[in-house]
Amino acid sequence: MQIGNLKILNPLFLAPMAGITDHPFRILCREMGAGVVFTEFVSANGIIRENMKTLELMKFTDNERPIGIQLFGETPEIVGNSAKMVYDMLKPDIIDINYGCPVPKVTKKGAGSAALKDLCLMDDITQAVVEAVPEIPVTVKMRAGWDQDNLVSTEAGVRMEKIGVGAITLHPRTTKQQFSGMSNWSLIKELKEAVNIPVIGNGDVNSLEDYNKLLNETGCDGVMIGRAALGKPWIFNSLKTNTSADAVINPDLSQIINIAQRHFLMLTEYYNNSLSVNLSKKHFNYYFKGFNGASNWRKQFMNIKNTDEIFSLLNQMTKELIN
Ligand SMILES: Cc1cc2nc3c(=O)[nH]c(=O)nc-3n(C[C@H](O)[C@H](O)[C@H](O)COP(=O)(O)O)c2cc1C
Repeated sequence: MQIGNLKILNPLFLAPMAGITDHPFRILCREMGAGVVFTEFVSANGIIRENMKTLELMKFTDNERPIGIQLFGETPEIVGNSAKMVYDMLKPDIIDINYGCPVPKVTKKGAGSAALKDLCLMDDITQAVVEAVPEIPVTVKMRAGWDQDNLVSTEAGVRMEKIGVGAITLHPRTTKQQFSGMSNWSLIKELKEAVNIPVIGNGDVNSLEDYNKLLNETGCDGVMIGRAALGKPWIFNSLKTNTSADAVINPDLSQIINIAQRHFLMLTEYYNNSLSVNLSKKHFNYYFKGFNGASNWRKQFMNIKNTDEIFSLLNQMTKELIN
């Protein structure tokens, strides 16, 4: 698969997820089969103001490549300028524009999926970004439209292609749906048939069966996985046809504890103590599911206050459950 001048060897994409797809999680997913990763959405206004917290969200290392940095904003000039700043500072492989966020704080200003209500604004924002970073491909990630009466993904996709984007990811739910109901994959098929650039299908892929079904039903060029990777970064390996013999595909509980421990260690290296504890708790809630006593272990992790306690609880888990 080719996105502009970028060759994608493995079209399995980790979805951008705010509060989840930070450097440690992206590294784990890359190691376990993801072909391309994205940062969470980053505010163009924050970049322009050189807000430190915003800039931190975009840091990555070379072993994450190919990586896309996702931007959101409502003012074409600002989003374009922020894309140029990001390119000059970090040289990511892709700049992605968020046209999918349904959160009112973002949409009430006209950013995220609100642009689907104003395709001329969407054109202008995209045009500004495409012109600002001619060196790398610009992609867009969008929802199907604002509500069921305004499904615009195909029309918007055709316009995006004309402006020069390298690929389109479609999560075919409306803004109004948020995460309810199911993704309407027929809209991915419709988009794929309407454009000549790659289409990345997204939404509700939780298994190899879903993955094959999405590819077969829509003809999409790549698949993006979000929630199914939470506490399960090895999902990407399980979707690949050419996984190596030692790849983690169906880890047993002892392997899962090891992966969670490694994730925790990466978080402690990357963040301060309290943030690494809070983020570990969030991820452990996903890792430790589906075995006898899992909810009790999760509760114990929830009550933890510092990294030492996490270490000892993980050790206790190994002793009690594995040996
Ligand atoms: C916690 C969370 C945070 C998300 N943050 C973003 C984001 O920053 N940018 C974005 O484009 N989509 C974001 N999404 C949407 C996902 O990228 C994806 O489109 C959606 O979850 C559907 O895919 P899935 O069914 O594989 O999860 C987020 C989703 C979740 C669950």
